[in-house]
Amino acid sequence: MCGIAAYIGKKKCRKYVLEGLQRLEYRGYDSAGFVCIDSQHKHLSFSKAKGRLSVLKDQLNGSPHDGFIGMGHTRWATHGVANEVNAHPHFDCKKSIAVIHNGIIERYDEIRKKLKAAGHEFYSDTDTETIAHLFESLLAEHHDLKQAIKALVSQLEGAYSLVFLMEDYPEQLIVVRHRSPVVVGIGEGEMFVASDPLVFSDITQKVLFLPDDSFALVKEDSISLYDFSNNPLKIESREVDARYIHTGKSGFEHYMLKEIYEQKLAIDKTIRFYNSLNGEGLEDSFWDQLGLTLGQVKNLKTINLVCAGTSWHAARIAQFFFETIAKIQTKVYLASEFRYMPFFPDENSVYIMVSQSGETADTLEALRLVKSKSNIPTIALTNTPSSTMVRESDGFLLMQAGPEIAVASTKAFSCQLASLYYLACKLAVEKGLMSEEQMRISQEDLLVATEILETTIETYKDEIIKHLAPRYSSFDRFIFLGRHISYPFALESALKLKEVSYIFAQCYPSGELKHGPIALIDNKTPVILFSVLDDVIYDKVVANAQEVKARLGHLVVFAFDGQEELINLADYAFIIPKVKPLLVPLAMIGLMQFFVYQIAKELGLPIDKPRNLAKSVTVE
Ligand code: F6R
Repeated sequence: MCGIAAYIGKKKCRKYVLEGLQRLEYRGYDSAGFVCIDSQHKHLSFSKAKGRLSVLKDQLNGSPHDGFIGMGHTRWATHGVANEVNAHPHFDCKKSIAVIHNGIIERYDEIRKKLKAAGHEFYSDTDTETIAHLFESLLAEHHDLKQAIKALVSQLEGAYSLVFLMEDYPEQLIVVRHRSPVVVGIGEGEMFVASDPLVFSDITQKVLFLPDDSFALVKEDSISLYDFSNNPLKIESREVDARYIHTGKSGFEHYMLKEIYEQKLAIDKTIRFYNSLNGEGLEDSFWDQLGLTLGQVKNLKTINLVCAGTSWHAARIAQFFFETIAKIQTKVYLASEFRYMPFFPDENSVYIMVSQSGETADTLEALRLVKSKSNIPTIALTNTPSSTMVRESDGFLLMQAGPEIAVASTKAFSCQLASLYYLACKLAVEKGLMSEEQMRISQEDLLVATEILETTIETYKDEIIKHLAPRYSSFDRFIFLGRHISYPFALESALKLKEVSYIFAQCYPSGELKHGPIALIDNKTPVILFSVLDDVIYDKVVANAQEVKARLGHLVVFAFDGQEELINLADYAFIIPKVKPLLVPLAMIGLMQFFVYQIAKELGLPIDKPRNLAKSVTVE
């Protein structure tokens, strides 16, 4: 969501702060701001702008404002519209305290009212400005920085990572973390603060992830870390994963395209990584990482998957993996709903939080809820080893997709599918339902599907670019249909189209068509139908296609080799080589993503950073 980048050291900070914010652009934002302690005048000097970072950069271009300590912010509006006034940094009355914030402050209105009554003047509609004024009044009351921070965090509710820059403390950045991640990059005589290590990972790989409920006083050559009771904490720095070093677009026009093409390699790396945990002849550390004993694995009766968005679609597909391959009942929950539903702690169950970022607020809170109400093992399936979910769950399963920068998830989704498929097979082996040899063959099947994921893009690339994208980008709305394992895949496909092209797309299980949605069928609303490779279900899919054609609907199908009946019904058919029936979504995924990507490109949209969206949804 919001992006934070800050610098303190012997060099001028503006370059680092703006470059850092640029790398956070993928998280999505609507305005930006920069503030530093001006090296000439020794006071806070700032600039804010609505819109893209380039607007702020242009504004600062040629201006002398720079210093050896400064910070910047990209805002994703939660309280108050996107405009210059609401952009961060925000200030106290004397404009000597600047604060930037990622997260949401709950019930800030009550605090704001009290502060206003005490004479504080507010300019913006944001929750963040309240923090600056509250801190101002607490500093006046306590005359001690650490005491004032302690008092501040005792009054703030919600989730926040904060960075303060203060004229009275020109030699340090003050960083506070409560339920929203923030990291310090430790350099040689310089420090960086950021919401993601990508901001500085090409300069230093030594990092300190602030523990939850802690604050740090960051000077150019030292960090002091405290808990919220002001007890000093040990600095446990670590090396950031080499995968997180910023590599750019590597010649691709967009990160989304780069990431579509990275999928095969990402899945291959992920499976190799899981296999390496099995350690030939050694103790099997795969289950250790997941935080499960072999006894727990063998007795597992229910798998609960909790997630949001694209990760939820991956989990819905994985339900078929677990129930078919490992014969384990699987329940899939949307994290935002799960948190407010009655909680039934099933015996012999496990909770798997599926999250690319490992930071999604609802999923994280669902994890905390399970942990607070039961002893059921919790596992984070994520792409981000340094994430809060990895730290807070009992075990983890780490995908090896590398950083996903485009807001619309592509390679993380396919890696989630591959990981959950692998896990289902591993469970089947432990339960005696599958031999080691069958497990090996399953992995080959997986790699065949990922091969197809890539080769189908090449097969249809020219046709999509020259004819299909120009043609389909002219429609205002689409219907997506799928059945069985292809239904959650159709949900994901519709989401992808909506995200990057802003075209309205509604998705149904194709069997539901005749129960209402069939009224929508006309020749102005293309129907995209995804086939399956199960003979019985395939016949039903064909029947659904006939229902569409009988109403003169425009039909595009993703079908498999030999599915002539379906192919002949279609106005356009993508034909894909056959794979194992459960791997149908993986085989179709590259083509679907490429098709959607080209439609958005045809429309000239900002594909990597669609409007209103943020990559890591760290607010509820
Ligand atoms: C869509 C997309 C989002 C995320 C969702 C959960 O392309 O990326 O729907 O899947 O916000 O994010 P994670 O997986 O990081 O928990």
